Amino acid sequence: MDNQDIKTIQWFPGHMAKTRRAISANMKLVDAVVEIIDARTPMSSRNPEIDALTSSKPRIILLNKCDLADSKLTDSWVRYFSSTGIPALAVDCKSGKGLNSLIPVLKKTSLKPLMDKRAKNNMTGAPVRLMILGIPNVGKSSLINRLAGGKRAKVEDRPGVTRTKQWVKLKDGTELLDMPGVLWPKFEDQSVAVRLAFTGAISDDILDIETLSMKLLSFLAENYPDSLGERYKIKFAPEISGAELLESVGKKRGMMLSGGVINTERAAITVIDEFRSGKLGRITLEIPPEKENVCQE
Ligand code: G4P
Repeated sequence: MDNQDIKTIQWFPGHMAKTRRAISANMKLVDAVVEIIDARTPMSSRNPEIDALTSSKPRIILLNKCDLADSKLTDSWVRYFSSTGIPALAVDCKSGKGLNSLIPVLKKTSLKPLMDKRAKNNMTGAPVRLMILGIPNVGKSSLINRLAGGKRAKVEDRPGVTRTKQWVKLKDGTELLDMPGVLWPKFEDQSVAVRLAFTGAISDDILDIETLSMKLLSFLAENYPDSLGERYKIKFAPEISGAELLESVGKKRGMMLSGGVINTERAAITVIDEFRSGKLGRITLEIPPEKENVCQE
């Protein structure tokens, strides 16, 4: 990834510090943390600080937007996280797919010691209290709405916005803290920022749309040539440059300016929009780390 052309990414340490304090303050109120990440970017959509923030809390990882991700790779990621000791589930918070398993799996895995303790002390009726943590746009509000069965007000991502603490009681007695913790992604590696811009998790003005789209097309040509070929009916191969691919898409779609010039800006917007909405197929941008990659069968 060429980092020269990526604009400086805004990073607000003060903002993060406030968020961290708010999350820590609420941590003692919950029994477990539900970490929600994007199934298309399971590495980039995590904030590494979550390990320190949640430290000893039982946790589960939800790979959300699995309807947009490569299902084989999602399975590999679920196995990868499980192999690191954190149970994981693939879910789609838009349709609700996979969410029925959340509480039962939590109780059987991370929360088992607590459940056993409660059973021993005749306290099985005590509610399980959960906090949802994740980066912006990953689906935290959708998750709460799905679990609680209704549309709730979107949580403010801005710092300094104080809200009354509210618990949302689910049918099975589970209580959700209706104030998801908003973590910011970490851009230590600039390619993380680019992948998050592909999915729309962060503003795509870190790069001009054409450069962003060319980078996406190059990745897709190398990793998902068939789905691209099907969508745009053009020849894709790893050796064809992103710029050439973008021109081919514009030409095929008849996106022309006067004088026979291809409107590459329009083509770029189309490619990015179609990727984000799943029209290019189910695509995952990251594979589990080699060493622990347990998907080799
Ligand atoms: P946040 O609270 O973490 O910031 O995220 P939020 O729930 O607002 O979700 C961000 C966007 O992602 C929303 O789309 C939401 O519908 C979409 N989304 C959430 N979960 C899923 C999923 O599993 N699959 C898919 N395909 N999309 C998901 P939006 O365009 O911003 O809003 P809207 O079109 O739903 O109104």
